[in-house]
Amino acid sequence: MTKKQFKRYCDIVYNESGIHLTEEKWQLLNARIGKRIRKLGVQPDKYLSIIEKDPDELNSFLDAVSTNHTYFFRESKTFKFLDTSCRNIWCAASSSGEEAYSLLMYSIELGFEPSILATDISDSCLEKARRAIYPKKSLSNIPNHMIRRYFQKGMAKWGDYVRVKQHISRMVKFRKFNLLKDSPPSKIFDIIFCRNVMIYFDVPTKETVIHKLSKVLKPDGYFIIGGAESLNGLNHSLKYIEPSVYKKC
Ligand SMILES: C[S@@+](CC[C@H](N)C(=O)[O-])C[C@H]1O[C@@H](n2cnc3c(N)ncnc32)[C@H](O)[C@@H]1O
Repeated sequence: MTKKQFKRYCDIVYNESGIHLTEEKWQLLNARIGKRIRKLGVQPDKYLSIIEKDPDELNSFLDAVSTNHTYFFRESKTFKFLDTSCRNIWCAASSSGEEAYSLLMYSIELGFEPSILATDISDSCLEKARRAIYPKKSLSNIPNHMIRRYFQKGMAKWGDYVRVKQHISRMVKFRKFNLLKDSPPSKIFDIIFCRNVMIYFDVPTKETVIHKLSKVLKPDGYFIIGGAESLNGLNHSLKYIEPSVYKKC
């Protein structure tokens, strides 16, 4: 891939998702696009013109370049901000579902069943999230009594997998939502988790996203970000509570 092509790919990623790729990501982008290009049997410049015209291929491209790493009960210290007043939770950028299911399981353990909207830009992540099938080894953060309560063990060829029990997985609504481009739902949320995604955005995009999400957060509602993220130096109206936790005043 030439420098010029790399720049065009980066512009597409930025315009479509807000993800800001720097030159250090050249190799990563090359490797990820390479797989797609080989599958289609085309050259990098031809692939550019394909994604510019074909929305389905554009989706696959965005899927290939985004980082979807997540796990059950990730950074669960901030879950203490969930309480019985949290009836409506938005888990924005939910990746393959582990975060949203963790929030639900945690809430049920506290004695309430919130309505959880979990959204992501990636179709393949949303599909995985709805299937709710995960490798057994992904349960390492979860105590045994919760594994028994919320997961069903796979049998035969599925022996290395578990599935979130269906009456639990059905309680989370997974929807496609692009934080950069889509209008927020017409609902008001008691708490919003938007974790480990803004780290890929530049300042103007972070500010746009925070403003958009804050509009649908109830007064006094918490806005939770990832452990490696901060809203320091950004223009926003949320109040800092503790690392990763902000509140709408
Ligand atoms: C690293 S994962 C974080 C998952 C989860 N929130 C966590 O903290 O474990 C980042 C997710 O953000 C999603 N994403 C990237 N850009 C997005 C956008 N513009 N709108 C919505 N989701 C986006 C990716 O598809 C990916 O699933």
